[in-house]
Amino acid sequence: MGICWPKPAKCAHASSTNFSGSAKTHSKTKQESTSATAKSPPEGSNKAFIVSKPHKPVSGNLKADTSVSNNLKSFSFSDLKNATKNFRQDTLLGEGGFGCVFKGWIDENTFAPTKPGTGIVVAIKRLKAESFQGHKEWLAEVNYLGQLHHENLVKLIGYCVESENRLLVYEFMPKGSLENHLFKKGVQPISWATRMHIAMGVARGLSFLHCLNANVIYRDLKASNILLDSDYNAKLSDFGLARDGPTGDNTHVSTRVVGTRGYAAPEYVATGHLTPKSDVYSFGVVLLELLSGKRAMDDERAGFSEETLVDWAKPFLSDNRKVLRIMDTRLGGQYSKKGAQAAAALALQCLHTDPKNRPCMVDVLASIERLHATRDTPRTPQQSQAKLDHHGIKHVNSPHKARAPTTNSY
Ligand SMILES: Nc1ncnc2c1ncn2[C@@H]1O[C@H](COP(=O)(O)OP(=O)(O)OP(=O)(O)O)[C@@H](O)[C@H]1O
Ligand SMILES: [Mg+2]
Repeated sequence: MGICWPKPAKCAHASSTNFSGSAKTHSKTKQESTSATAKSPPEGSNKAFIVSKPHKPVSGNLKADTSVSNNLKSFSFSDLKNATKNFRQDTLLGEGGFGCVFKGWIDENTFAPTKPGTGIVVAIKRLKAESFQGHKEWLAEVNYLGQLHHENLVKLIGYCVESENRLLVYEFMPKGSLENHLFKKGVQPISWATRMHIAMGVARGLSFLHCLNANVIYRDLKASNILLDSDYNAKLSDFGLARDGPTGDNTHVSTRVVGTRGYAAPEYVATGHLTPKSDVYSFGVVLLELLSGKRAMDDERAGFSEETLVDWAKPFLSDNRKVLRIMDTRLGGQYSKKGAQAAAALALQCLHTDPKNRPCMVDVLASIERLHATRDTPRTPQQSQAKLDHHGIKHVNSPHKARAPTTNSY
């Protein structure tokens, strides 16, 4: 979370410093605050519900704040120590700006710690002791994820607050983060169909958050916050920066500028004015990462020029004849030219400089669903190398036999 120059994923909380320090207030603006209202299930979403909106996601009073999330389990620190073999190194799943994430085991019914390998697996995030900003974000996460439930949001099982210790206990996501699948060296590249399936899951999660009943702006969409279950279903994690969306006549929410460089919408960085369209921009960046296999912000690409993936890709996206040049060469010919062009056109719309010209998330979701449903002919069919992926979709090139890179260089 948080601002990240120049390495987005690992310096998050240091982070909650301003991007530009130029956040302004405005007459049609809602300050960083929320109200308590009971919510009914959002329309058109039978697998999602909101118990109620957080009363006050950010405050110093722990007892008062966590009491609203009484559907969450309150763990003791010693339970979580036992569940992770005393936070042993071999249970470490990853590390972010907030702290380290460990694999743990608990009993399915009682949630008591169990012997490793028995009961259910959970992911336990432990806030770094020195992380001052982390406390605020920890609390926001407890409040939001305690109330919002959807198949494309990671499930928060419980939390621990004991003296200086702040921890969160989540459902375990066996395939880890999208970041690892797209950018980690030595990892088998994910197929085109899987990438579109992931984009669809992310779009569903964001559409749910933006719906009138939830009205939440996520504010931290990036590959490392998209977690994957065993079937590559995407779930959004990390709600520490989430905020209630504008209500009534307000057009936006005024906030400190936080987020991750390369993903944050330019107008938000410039003004601090946050709208659901800020998330749409970040979705456009993630879609571009899925298409190109390149990071939103890459030290090696950017050098000292600070060029983002969006800066690099935009000239190609706006010319249908050049679109294929941005595509991840590891995909080989798994996608059709039409499919790639449609996905690139959608990314371009999401990345429009003027937020008013970006589509809203439900329309983005409809486009992705159409794209995913179209099983048109791949670009370079090589039936002899055809493979079925875990969605039962045929792929023509093994990742190791991808066509030689053409123009995807910097
Ligand atoms: N529920 C989970 N199941 C499995 N692995 C997880 C889970 N939550 C987090 N992880 C792993 O831990 C890593 C670190 O996550 P974390 O959210 O702390 O940091 P980050 O997203 O990389 O950075 P940031 O602090 O900027 O959000 C993730 O990249 C992922 O690999
Ligand atoms: Mg994260």
